[in-house]
Amino acid sequence: MRSLIDILDLSVSEIDDLIKTANDIIDNPKAYSDRCRGKKLATLFFEPSTRTRLSFEAAMYELGGNVIGFSEAQSSSASKGESVADTAKVISCYADIIAMRHPKEGAPLVAAMNATVPVINAGDGGHNHPTQTLADLLTIQREKGSFENLTVGFCGDLKFGRTVHSLICALSRYSGIKVILISPEELKLPSYVKKDVLAKNGIYYEQTQDLESAMPQLDILYMTRVQRERFFNEEDYLRLKDSYILDPRKLKNAKSDLCIMHPLPRVNEISVAVDSDPRACYFKQVLYGKYIRMALILKLLEEAGK
Ligand code: NCD
Repeated sequence: MRSLIDILDLSVSEIDDLIKTANDIIDNPKAYSDRCRGKKLATLFFEPSTRTRLSFEAAMYELGGNVIGFSEAQSSSASKGESVADTAKVISCYADIIAMRHPKEGAPLVAAMNATVPVINAGDGGHNHPTQTLADLLTIQREKGSFENLTVGFCGDLKFGRTVHSLICALSRYSGIKVILISPEELKLPSYVKKDVLAKNGIYYEQTQDLESAMPQLDILYMTRVQRERFFNEEDYLRLKDSYILDPRKLKNAKSDLCIMHPLPRVNEISVAVDSDPRACYFKQVLYGKYIRMALILKLLEEAGK
């Protein structure tokens, strides 16, 4: 059964096809409004979410399908001690496809190994978030036209930010990519991502703590929230949470066609004064997330023969 656990589960040409389908859905939404009639998506969210869960739900409704599920672990049998493997077997009896978010790294993979329907990883701990990456890629494709020869700055919590890890993996397959890692010392990109992804694919990267000096060379600036829920103590969080606050002054030396992205939710790291800047793409990114999830649901259901 084909699932999506890691962004690298999809080949570059499959990603191109998903982007093509998403763009076609944007142009012809009516042509897709009945494609999942009679099908059910189960959203199993063991960790809080607004965008990801609701965009999966909106995606399924816009395809004419239905949605079942839960949005917190407390309201599921996990609170009685049920394993992820058992939950996956049970939900496979009710739904045609599953989207799962879980605080434990690897939980969606365990679900996929036990489910008899496709499982989509909707974020596992500080590890991966492949559907956010698909939303990011669609945004980049629409804003920049291609994934090649881009200098991409990642800023903020690069240690725990799963969206950063997945997007770096995805970009490492394109040529001419330069990555600038901007973070406080304590929140640097994990060395396994540097070694197994960046170095292994020969991707040029730099590490700095200084957002303003990196700014002029960036084509894309990917801002992130400091991931409070993954910190071991509140003091460290409070010390690091406002390390970077993007405001109009810091954008003075930025390229005129910079694309400012953020997976959201935003806390303080982008001032609201930036929202009206034409380079701010983070709310478009939310909308694109729904369309690319529609394309993904269609693809996985088709491959599953549903
Ligand atoms: C991200 C996540 O859950 O990792 N949010 C999202 O899915 N759009 C980013 C975050 O929570 O900071």
